[in-house]
Amino acid sequence: MDLFEYQAKELFVKHGVPSSEGRVTDTAEDARAIAAEIGKPVMIKSQVKAGGRGKAGGVKYAATPDDALTHANNILGLDIKGHITKKVLVAEAKDIAEEYYISFLLDRTNRTYLAMCSVEGGMEIEEVAATKPDRLAKVPVDAVKGVDLAFARSIAEQGHLPAEVLDAAAVTIQKLWEVFVAEDATLVEVNPLVRTPQDEILALDGKVTLDENAEFRHADHAEFADKDATDPLELKAKENDLNYVKLDGAVGIIGNGAGLVMSTLDVVAYAGEKHSGVKPANFLDIGGGASAEVMANGLDVILNDSQVKSVFVNVFGGITACDAVANGIVKALEILGDEANKPLVVRLDGNRVEEGRKILAEAAHPLVTLAQTMDEGADKAAELAAR
Ligand SMILES: Nc1ncnc2c1ncn2[C@@H]1O[C@H](COP(=O)(O)OP(=O)(O)OP(=O)(O)O)[C@@H](O)[C@H]1O
Ligand SMILES: [Mg+2]
Repeated sequence: MDLFEYQAKELFVKHGVPSSEGRVTDTAEDARAIAAEIGKPVMIKSQVKAGGRGKAGGVKYAATPDDALTHANNILGLDIKGHITKKVLVAEAKDIAEEYYISFLLDRTNRTYLAMCSVEGGMEIEEVAATKPDRLAKVPVDAVKGVDLAFARSIAEQGHLPAEVLDAAAVTIQKLWEVFVAEDATLVEVNPLVRTPQDEILALDGKVTLDENAEFRHADHAEFADKDATDPLELKAKENDLNYVKLDGAVGIIGNGAGLVMSTLDVVAYAGEKHSGVKPANFLDIGGGASAEVMANGLDVILNDSQVKSVFVNVFGGITACDAVANGIVKALEILGDEANKPLVVRLDGNRVEEGRKILAEAAHPLVTLAQTMDEGADKAAELAAR
């Protein structure tokens, strides 16, 4: 999950990374009030998850609270690379002597963590990497040893930061590593890392990506989710712990196991070519334990997608056998009642398949059609969606 700058800075404050005081708001009036409260010149900064905000006019200096109001008015609603500004950060404007660059990230290719540091910060780091690669240090970080003060200092030195600020930079860089580890981030990037005329080293910008696989140990990260930007069905699925991705088509898909669901998407897309080009409407993997409740939650999400015209349930019975899945489907349809209003094609195979098919045949739900094979099921579901 990518964070907004103001969220990244909340984590910086939590771990004692020196930054600039500030608060976020969605109204210009409030921006003026925050500026007045800070009592010094401020920067008004667009909060969008896109780079190059400054160049796009999304970062402005405001000498007075009235200026803060004017700039906030202009920046709220500003479109930056297709991202509309809904919030601005009002942050104390610091005096800047020099701008550097620092980041920690996961280097997947080399199976290690990596620190990148450069004296040439502020601008786009891709440009520094391309034109002056020797000015951008890339330092592998051992996951076990991590980054202590001495190593942080060495990173700053390799990035060609001036000798006078190496000690101060080491402190800030070491704390940024703490953010990276303690918050389970895959990216912590600060551009610019600023040197003030007093030789303080401050993180004036922040880009943080959190590892969603570590969510279970960070209950406090839930509040970072950008509810505005998330598809409401994906949100609902997430609340129910379902692996769901919304797509554009008309055939809802439910399967167990990511591989089976992926191939179901392919087979449905192929079958759809014969039926006015209908396509899969989603990816939904209900996983190994397909209980009635999980099935009901899954169906509930898919049936609430107004683009869905039919649903293909494709399950291979394993540890959870086909009869349990069939019972799950029957109970799910009971739970959903009138909400179940679109035709369902069900294909079961694997462990206890005969029992499973018998249960569905006996239930004889008017919306359910049984298919013997995956191809047949895909074809039937596509045909029903095209009708
Ligand atoms: N608190 C601040 N005080 C003084 N100057 C600031 C402050 N915040 C930002 N600036 C100035 O504005 C410039 C741009 O800000 P920032 O780095 O946050 O945005 P950006 O780099 O344009 O956007 P992005 O990082 O999304 O590409 C900085 O390089 C710095 O010169
Ligand atoms: Mg920046």
